[in-house]
Amino acid sequence: MTYIKYFDIVGRVIESNTKSISERISREKGISYEDARLEIIDSIIKHLVINSREWASGCQPNIHYEDPTCRMAYLYRIVPVNANLLEYVFENDAEIEEYLLGVQNKIGEVRICVFGGGPGTELLGLAKRIEKRRFKNQIVLNFLLLDEVNEWLESWRAIRKEIDSKFRNSISLNRNDWPLTTSGDFCALDITNIDNFDNWGAVFDQDIYIFSYIISEVFDNYPQLKNFIAKMAAQSPEGAKFLFIDRVEKKWKDVIIDIAKNAGIVISEFHDTASSIGVVSRDEEKTDLGQIYVDVMKRYSKGNPRLGWKAFWIVGTKE
Ligand SMILES: C[S@@+](CC[C@H](N)C(=O)[O-])C[C@H]1O[C@@H](n2cnc3c(N)ncnc32)[C@H](O)[C@@H]1O
Repeated sequence: MTYIKYFDIVGRVIESNTKSISERISREKGISYEDARLEIIDSIIKHLVINSREWASGCQPNIHYEDPTCRMAYLYRIVPVNANLLEYVFENDAEIEEYLLGVQNKIGEVRICVFGGGPGTELLGLAKRIEKRRFKNQIVLNFLLLDEVNEWLESWRAIRKEIDSKFRNSISLNRNDWPLTTSGDFCALDITNIDNFDNWGAVFDQDIYIFSYIISEVFDNYPQLKNFIAKMAAQSPEGAKFLFIDRVEKKWKDVIIDIAKNAGIVISEFHDTASSIGVVSRDEEKTDLGQIYVDVMKRYSKGNPRLGWKAFWIVGTKE
């Protein structure tokens, strides 16, 4: 039995985007498809370079997710490793995984709110974890995605479609036989601006809230984010879980302690983790990214996807 493969799915999604954008550019500029494709590859490479520089700058990163080739660079370099980290967290934290199972058994679905969830990292990581864990009953994941970049919806849905077709081809045509089914509502909003929200109760009655590499991404607007999380947590059901994952630096841990205290979220202990896809997921191969990997590496020798992580996670509970 082969499981969901991160690089394979992400590679397919990028390839299909690259193809449709190259066709459009070729038509619009009157150039060959091959030349248009090279423009796209070079733009992806440009964003690989800029994004790495921004994340290493020590300041709040300025990443141009509104640009489709920047989103492809993020999918290419970061999504597989972050999805694998999320899978690892669920595998190694009984508190969060057993809670997920308990909610499923009780209400027949699990409602998951993902802050900065546009890229689909959490969808991919949870799908693979659930497929591998083989729960007795089907798991139904109902996502609420909060992300200021509306265009992420396109690749989120493409990832979901790839997961569904993997199950359809390897398990059964009938969804009822699959280990999990997923659905998602996308909410394009700035999580550091609470002004647009009146009816919090209708939106934030979720079971699990995930913040994966989001605290370090919006750090300059931390007071507003703190405010947002406090208002949201006030509406969440008692017992709801809050999962924070981020780079292993003390400043992010301090921020999370402060956010949790302010929002009435009781946190457990921090877990530090340093590992890599090669160590924890032997079935994953970066070359499964396919043609995009070949094209990027041909023009940029430092164009490998990220494989390792140095991170921490912590689970909080709404009391
Ligand atoms: C570093 S990525 C993390 C993505 C994913 N959670 C992961 O672990 O790979 C940050 C995400 O947050 C979104 N984002 C950044 N600032 C935001 C804001 N102020 N409000 C909502 N979304 C934001 C970006 O569009 C991007 O999808």
